[in-house]
Amino acid sequence: MPHPVVDAGRLLLQRSGVFYRQKHLLAIEGLEPPAISQLLDLAESYVLLNRSGKTQRDLLRGRTLINLFFEDSTRTRTSFELAGKRLGADVINMAVSSSSVNKGETLIDTAATLNAMHCDLLVVRHDQSGAPNLLAQIVDAAVINAGDGTREHPTQALLDALTIKRRKGRIAGLTVAICGDIAHSRVARSNIHLLTTMGCQVRVVGPPTLIPAEIADLGVTVFHQMAEGLAGADVVMMLRLQRERMSRGLVPSAREYFRFYGLDKAKLARAKPDAIVMHPGPMNRGVEIDSAVADDALHSVIKEQVEMGVAVRMAVLDILSQGHGRNEP
Ligand code: CP
Repeated sequence: MPHPVVDAGRLLLQRSGVFYRQKHLLAIEGLEPPAISQLLDLAESYVLLNRSGKTQRDLLRGRTLINLFFEDSTRTRTSFELAGKRLGADVINMAVSSSSVNKGETLIDTAATLNAMHCDLLVVRHDQSGAPNLLAQIVDAAVINAGDGTREHPTQALLDALTIKRRKGRIAGLTVAICGDIAHSRVARSNIHLLTTMGCQVRVVGPPTLIPAEIADLGVTVFHQMAEGLAGADVVMMLRLQRERMSRGLVPSAREYFRFYGLDKAKLARAKPDAIVMHPGPMNRGVEIDSAVADDALHSVIKEQVEMGVAVRMAVLDILSQGHGRNEP
């Protein structure tokens, strides 16, 4: 059933013109502020729709969305499935672990096979940076990057931005500290691109072994001590140690890491009193974050991030399905 809030959101979009004019969503890098703002505004209307308990099943009726995840996922895959279904799409979750990938079929042949089935939207997660860009060149479907290697996770950055905007009333001018394993984090990179584009002061905080030197080229300030990096921050974003991407031990032990870089109440006290605490999940409690902080309703917005994930993905599916895209990757 149509919903007045979403109808109003889409009407606004039609009147102001569509600023997101790419066929795919492969990265945040390169997006201009009006395109990001428009996606966030449309997502806001989907937050209201989801909270009303209604759906918008006519929007993607007859369209097919395939979730193609070569890496594990709880939040991203489930929320793309929910988003697609709430908009009326036929959603297929391809189980890569029991697919012909196990018989040696390549990524390109797998994608070409799915393409021959005429899918409209292909959501891809892969451990190789750039894999979604490669697929975007060979399939007819709109490709959405659900996380590629250490490069980008664009819908995560959008949902993080929506959470920040709703909690703080703005994005521009805020100080955001992104803490932990920056080296292996696509979430960090997408957030850095989005938050600097939208006018935030972005800091990265972590041990030297987990912060690549070139990160400063993205316009962030580097800190190696939590006390300094968190001082006066509006937003504290914690990241998991991505051990699956580490070829050697880059931290001495989980216990020692928590002592120096794990967010507990004492370290959080350095940030502003009304600072919000974020984490993209999955969390490793007692490693990068203390349960007392993760579950602290006064500061933690981690569950809200998950809620925003569904709304943002609905907005992305909505915009891409309108067919305004003209840019090839
Ligand atoms: N934040 C995130 O991408 O979580 P999942 O790995 O569970 O999808």
